[in-house]
Amino acid sequence: MGRLLFNPGPTEVREEVLKAQVKPMISHRGKEFQTLYEGIIEKTKRVLNTKNHVVIFTSSATGVMEGTIRNCVKERALGTACGSFSERWFKLVGECDKEGDVISVEWGQAIKPEMIDEKLKTGKYDTILVTYNETSTGVLNPIPEIGEVMKKYPDVIFAVDAVSAMVGAPLKIEEWGIDVVFASVQKCFALPPGLTVTVISEKAYERAKTVKGRGHYFDFVAYIKKYEESKETPATPAVSLLYAIDFQLDRILNEGIENRIKKHQEMSKISQEWAIKREFGMFPEKGYWSPTVSVINNPKGYSIPDLNKQLEAKGYRIANGYGKLKDITFRIGHMGDLTPQETKGLFEAIDEIWGLK
Ligand SMILES: Cc1ncc(COP(=O)(O)O)c(C=O)c1O
Repeated sequence: MGRLLFNPGPTEVREEVLKAQVKPMISHRGKEFQTLYEGIIEKTKRVLNTKNHVVIFTSSATGVMEGTIRNCVKERALGTACGSFSERWFKLVGECDKEGDVISVEWGQAIKPEMIDEKLKTGKYDTILVTYNETSTGVLNPIPEIGEVMKKYPDVIFAVDAVSAMVGAPLKIEEWGIDVVFASVQKCFALPPGLTVTVISEKAYERAKTVKGRGHYFDFVAYIKKYEESKETPATPAVSLLYAIDFQLDRILNEGIENRIKKHQEMSKISQEWAIKREFGMFPEKGYWSPTVSVINNPKGYSIPDLNKQLEAKGYRIANGYGKLKDITFRIGHMGDLTPQETKGLFEAIDEIWGLK
């Protein structure tokens, strides 16, 4: 029996998308590749409604989290930690041998714009790192409101991790003043892992040109220049995955980005209503519940590994809580190509297993 993957990444990949990878190999130096890659860049710009530079890195998002720091941070970065992935991003600042400070809130709380304003007022920072959707806690941080604050600081690079949000939650890159934003494709793009879609503003590109020690594999300047010169990438790309993203971008354009975002909202509503009705409760602070991943409290201490064993037989899989939230919460990733109908089916199966009806 097939199984629907309700993990908050990797998420369900449809068979036709998997099959799109299976095409004859081509050289990444030549016309055929250039046409493929240029098509992908142009479609990504249409899907994301942006005129900024687009790069598809052959890497999961962690590589680009590191790359963003290496390319953008000149003197000092400001991190914003509200869960495991945002904590990791700030940790990379030190690991890249750069200086920085961090705003930290309790897991489950959101980063508020005034917290950022307070810090940026000091004039100490040239880059801020914000996680749009914190996948470990299910918090969607208020990026549009943070973008309003950022208008007061035009010299600061606004970098956003949209790993579990891009093409699942609203994203207005230029309107919100975002300079770098990226997402690995095993989340809302519903593709096999291995690529990271990255959007870089002119301001971030100009900044990168002035930063020393950008490294090689994630050098934004090298990627943008190579694309402008030849529509190619500096190093060997994952051509089979590019076939898949090319196919999937067409599917997303056909579906319509607004419809896709609406579908994610519907799926999150189904999860949230279930959690409330069954008296589990949502883990994150009210008002910041994610449209792509629901982190649900587990007050009765149900075993999630046991649940998954039984769900498996019914054709589903979900995820346990992340890190320190393991066993006290569980996570439903309702993203990508999954549908509201399938989400309802999942909760019916959970009800049946736990005898909740
Ligand atoms: C919000 C967020 N940021 C970063 C990452 C790391 O991305 P990757 O596993 O693609 O390197 C993840 C992975 O789940 C994530 O959810």
